Amino acid sequence: MEVPFGRLKNRKNCYLLPSQTPLMQTGLPEKAAEVLQNNWQHGFTIPCEGLYPFQWNWDSGFIALGWGHLDVERAKMEIRSLLLGQWQNGFLPHIVFHNEAETYFPGPDVWDVGRSRFAPEKKTSGITQPPVLGFVLEFLYDRHGDALMDFAAEVFPALYAWHAYLYTHRDLHNEGLVYICHNWEAGTDNTPVWDAIWEGMDSPSYDLNRRDTQHVDAANRPSNREYEHYIHLVELFKSWDYEDAKIGANSPFLIQDPLFNALLMRSNEGLIRLGKLLGREAEVARLEQWQERSLKHFHKKLYSPLNKAYVYYDLRNERKLEAVSSSSFIPLFAGIPSPAIAREMVAHHFDRGRFSGSRDAYYLCASFDPTSEAFDPGRYWRGPVWVNLNWLLYHGLLRYGFGRLAEKVRKDTLELLEQYGFYEYFDPRRQLDSGKTHAYGGNNFSWSAALYLDLIQHPES
Ligand code: DGY
Repeated sequence: MEVPFGRLKNRKNCYLLPSQTPLMQTGLPEKAAEVLQNNWQHGFTIPCEGLYPFQWNWDSGFIALGWGHLDVERAKMEIRSLLLGQWQNGFLPHIVFHNEAETYFPGPDVWDVGRSRFAPEKKTSGITQPPVLGFVLEFLYDRHGDALMDFAAEVFPALYAWHAYLYTHRDLHNEGLVYICHNWEAGTDNTPVWDAIWEGMDSPSYDLNRRDTQHVDAANRPSNREYEHYIHLVELFKSWDYEDAKIGANSPFLIQDPLFNALLMRSNEGLIRLGKLLGREAEVARLEQWQERSLKHFHKKLYSPLNKAYVYYDLRNERKLEAVSSSSFIPLFAGIPSPAIAREMVAHHFDRGRFSGSRDAYYLCASFDPTSEAFDPGRYWRGPVWVNLNWLLYHGLLRYGFGRLAEKVRKDTLELLEQYGFYEYFDPRRQLDSGKTHAYGGNNFSWSAALYLDLIQHPES
């Protein structure tokens, strides 16, 4: 594919000159473009060859941002393809099985979503993922301007329907805070936050046919016992034919997640802005009501004065799950905390606090509290740095004027990608002697490449 060098544009939609893009000299933008090109599959992009061979929901959103720098038609195709998996009730699943592949478990037969009266023709999974498309569409609009409006008009109804589904079927107490019913819906699959939930679950053993550990060292992935809980939840949902009312009433996993809800709210913002430009008044009014309700309850319910950060709420057991992860800071991205709370949170965790460590011992931002006993710097979401969370944190910090810290997050992310390549996640411990750390999981990982292409667009910050 044609390399992006001369085609990268800045936020004002102008081509970048080499002098503005010092990192270009590394040849990494070309490699990032190659990763996306190699993972492109006739209309959508797989997250990673072998490990994730289908289309994933939030991956596609981040990937579309990357395509937005290379070929905006592909960004549009990416989103269109994902929407082909939308259910008739607006639900947008976390995987769309456009293609066949034997390298992933659980595949479409395990999900068996045909049991739902709302399932589409496409084969899909039966759970969702954090709703990123609303703000992705807005970022694409900011880059491409009016040229994107036809596309925005085309997909707006489907994105609105997805948000309407979430607020209608998953907001049990009309708080504007929707629940997730599976750890895979969080995106942060095996964060230690869930340990308290698994302890209370007596899942049976399953004959797991895991494929992930054939691609990646098992030490960097969730344990088999955790996978049994994951599959048990799927079996429960199947036994209820994926009926929301039954899931809401009975699922042992029922969580109000600060990451999921913050991304929903940031996506509301994107849809409200674009909806106004498109003249979709009725939908904008409804989105504004949801947004107002969410804003009213988010901080009150999910902020932990104890931990000085946002935490998860376990609806099934009516308790806060007091643990701090990188998700705890993403409400900044949606403008949720007051400036005073934002300052308190940032000072506590980043000014030589838990997440930076004394003498900046950690790359920002570990996915789980490095001072916790449960912190595991090599195991997936139990500690490693993830590029997508860093991207969200970067923008969240900028939104509140923490420019220096935002730049540190951006630089740390770029340093990891430059040193190790487009891996899935990275060990947050800075090795002060060798200057080296470890990269883990899938290589040539699409969102790492896509968000790299986006992060290098901010040389002035
Ligand atoms: C996996 O299989 O690890 C995914 O994160 C679930 O969607």
